[in-house]
Amino acid sequence: MAKPKITFYCQNCGASYSKWQGKCNACGEWNSIAEEVIDKSSSTASGKSYGSSNLKALKINEIDLQAETRISSKDQELDRVLGDGIVPGSVILLGGEPGIGKSTLMLQMLMQLEKKALYVSGEESLQQIKLRADRIQGNQDTSYLLAATNTQKILHQLEKEKPELLIVDSIQTLHTDYIESSPGSVSQIRECASELIDFAKNTQTPVILIGHINKQGSIAGPKVLEHMVDSVLQFEGDRNHAYRILRSQKNRFGSTHELGIYEMEINGLKPVTNPSDILLSKSDVNLSGTAIAASVEGMRPLLIEIQALVSSAVYGTPQRTTTGYSTKRLNMLLAVLEKRAGFKLASKDVFLNITGGIHVDDPALDLAVVASILSSSENIPIARSVCFAAEIGLAGEIRPVQRVQIRIAEAEKMGFEKIIISGQTEKITTQPKIDVKRIQTIMDLVDVLF
Ligand code: TYD
Ligand code: MG
Repeated sequence: MAKPKITFYCQNCGASYSKWQGKCNACGEWNSIAEEVIDKSSSTASGKSYGSSNLKALKINEIDLQAETRISSKDQELDRVLGDGIVPGSVILLGGEPGIGKSTLMLQMLMQLEKKALYVSGEESLQQIKLRADRIQGNQDTSYLLAATNTQKILHQLEKEKPELLIVDSIQTLHTDYIESSPGSVSQIRECASELIDFAKNTQTPVILIGHINKQGSIAGPKVLEHMVDSVLQFEGDRNHAYRILRSQKNRFGSTHELGIYEMEINGLKPVTNPSDILLSKSDVNLSGTAIAASVEGMRPLLIEIQALVSSAVYGTPQRTTTGYSTKRLNMLLAVLEKRAGFKLASKDVFLNITGGIHVDDPALDLAVVASILSSSENIPIARSVCFAAEIGLAGEIRPVQRVQIRIAEAEKMGFEKIIISGQTEKITTQPKIDVKRIQTIMDLVDVLF
């Protein structure tokens, strides 16, 4: 009898070793290597043929493009993030923290879709899914549910049902007969994913895999999973807020800059069509420490409210705490303020918050961040009719940002009277009604504000 093969895998990155060791050489993680038994005799890897011999290499111009007709998910946010719908035969990985709404998003899509889809759940019973489906409301008679975790059984069912879309919730719960290690281990995840990817490519059925994320925020299990699939979507948000953001981290069929925004309600996730409207607080009271940034995610403008609180530090080392914004970037901006504009903030606590519980990386937020800090520090409110869109350089210069025209148009649409941008921005061809104020350095900002 053939001896089962034992391999040691790093549970963090998926690197394999022939014997145990304390530290993974590939990712540097300690104590992450575990033994996994691979039943070599029946492994698909050894049984795989090299494909049929009727393969033929083609020139680029010989390739027929008509095959790529995308399937609309009937969810405009999801379609936008994927780049105009789901490509047949593609494999999409949807990651996110527990309880963020991955299962809800998929179930909801399934009930809107006018195609036959199969939702395989290894996490919840059919009754639980039915309860959720009743809450969400939608068409309950086009799609099928299956509670299963064994990939061979799932593939068997797929052959019978021939769905036009497959959703698997979640990849960590699956196991294949070919590998002995427990579900959720690296080799199981990798093998199950590869069986489902084969299914997608052979039948041209799109497959969506739901994946859990670990505490570092990447998809739990091997990094290789992200390399194997065509698109990686990340569903994120603050669980204490109702807003959820769908981002694409990798997309073989479109841009990764697009963003989908949803609001979690009692009866499911609702697409947010006008995000600026909800991210700005409605209050008319002018409070110090608040500034509005005209941001852009992909081609989508977003007006974001930034709040800062500057107060005297109680302890020796002042605190810098941020929500939804990079603390490193904040420290850099504080250093620029101190060095180039002479504001003494070294002994102050600074708290910075992006409202709505969303996380934004757009460098155009810099100017609004600095404005909110100055406003809080000097205790002078900024007029609510003003917004900002520029990056700040280390020399204290105000730098231009991409897609200024979209930002200006959005600010105008939202009723702002003035937008402050970099003086180096190229000439604006449209004639906006909003007052476009150009500034050169951080000192000019001080003049404009106070
Ligand atoms: P779920 O889709 O189960 O999250 P995941 O699959 O990512 O773990 O979403 C769970 C949360 O969403 C749960 O805490 C309740 C909330 N929720 C609503 O607020 N409204 C709804 O209609 C549904 C279905 C869920
Ligand atoms: Mg779930």
